[in-house]
Amino acid sequence: MASPYAASPYVLSLLLLLSIPAVFLLAPRLIPPRTLPAIPDADETEDLALFRRAVLLSAAPASPKPADTAAGATTTSFFGAGSGFRKKRKQQPKVAFLFLTNSDLVFAPLWEKFFAGHHGLLNVYVHADPASALTLPPTPSFRGRIIPGKATQRASATLISAARRLLATALLDDPANHFFALLSQSCVPLHPFPALYRTLTSDIAGPKGRHRSFIEILDAEPTLHDRYYARGDDVMLPEVPYDSFRVGSQFFVLTRRHAVMVVRDRRLWNKFKLPCLVKRKYSCYPEEHYFPTLLDMQDPGGSTKFTLTRVNWTDSFDGHPHTYQPEEVSGELIRDLRKSNGTYSHMFARKFAPECLGPLMKIADSIILRD
Ligand SMILES: *[C@@H]1O[C@H](CO)[C@@H](O)[C@H](O)[C@H]1NC(C)=O
Ligand SMILES: *[C@@H]1O[C@H](CO)[C@@H](O)[C@H](O)[C@H]1NC(C)=O
Repeated sequence: MASPYAASPYVLSLLLLLSIPAVFLLAPRLIPPRTLPAIPDADETEDLALFRRAVLLSAAPASPKPADTAAGATTTSFFGAGSGFRKKRKQQPKVAFLFLTNSDLVFAPLWEKFFAGHHGLLNVYVHADPASALTLPPTPSFRGRIIPGKATQRASATLISAARRLLATALLDDPANHFFALLSQSCVPLHPFPALYRTLTSDIAGPKGRHRSFIEILDAEPTLHDRYYARGDDVMLPEVPYDSFRVGSQFFVLTRRHAVMVVRDRRLWNKFKLPCLVKRKYSCYPEEHYFPTLLDMQDPGGSTKFTLTRVNWTDSFDGHPHTYQPEEVSGELIRDLRKSNGTYSHMFARKFAPECLGPLMKIADSIILRD
């Protein structure tokens, strides 16, 4: 006979009992996941603290006159004593340029030309994926403007989180930040800064005479159905009925009022942050839906529903628009990209290949930064 223990029913049941947790530990590795990766809880917790702070400090003066907001200045500036907090006198509204990137900002020299002479009316903030090992351009507008970033990837809500982090940081940093322009590393300006500033500040609508956000908001796109169900059947209900689901450009300019609205939101975010089903990952573009849907639901008349950022979707591939190459860059192209069917001319364009920097710089003074 073998060892007396081998036959013991006590030992057998003990082994069985011990194997139960093992099954639970191994199962997720054996069964393929049904959904794409979710946002890590730790990232969510940190974001929530930042967003709460931004809402709390931005909530009080909801006046359309930024001069009033500047009067309520405190010393919570993200970037220390800089920016608008030191100024007690009445301040003109500023434009916060929010760069969302996962690579070097190769067009920084062009942006630097665009910003030159207007630093009193703007601030720059950069959110970079930590894996990108970004070398910030050693130019005055970008130096020290990088904010604490977290990992971003396509087909996940991490791009929304990054945009919200930029908005919250810019809200906290300078109460004079009144317009928030989200841009990527492949965006370029099409007009000089004063033209952008005029467009943003002169667009006033509604009975309260408020500035509007420039964000594309569409409701009849063929992709809408598949994208609504990307996270599963009926998971968006009841917060986001299908009829309220919108699509629009990932890059936009929001007013301060809307920036606060976005950073304050938890109701819609709880739906849009849900990971997409693996089998529907090709319909997973949450960042093209969250902002247009939220703004259209909460402030239907508050946006122009038009984007200032021109993008060429002809022959788009794998969700990427046409990327302009150096040989395509010309004065004619810039003038072409400016044209729009809306009330306003386009102010920015994407996407441009990094090699376009040289040709763009050549026509910067003579065409791009000239009206
Ligand atoms: C858009 O991209 C296509 C190529 O995909 C190109 O032929 C066309 O000229 C571009 N349009 C503009 C306005 O640049
Ligand atoms: C303007 O509208 C026309 C007709 O709908 C369309 O062909 C063209 O591409 C639009 N141009 C821009 C810049 O959106």
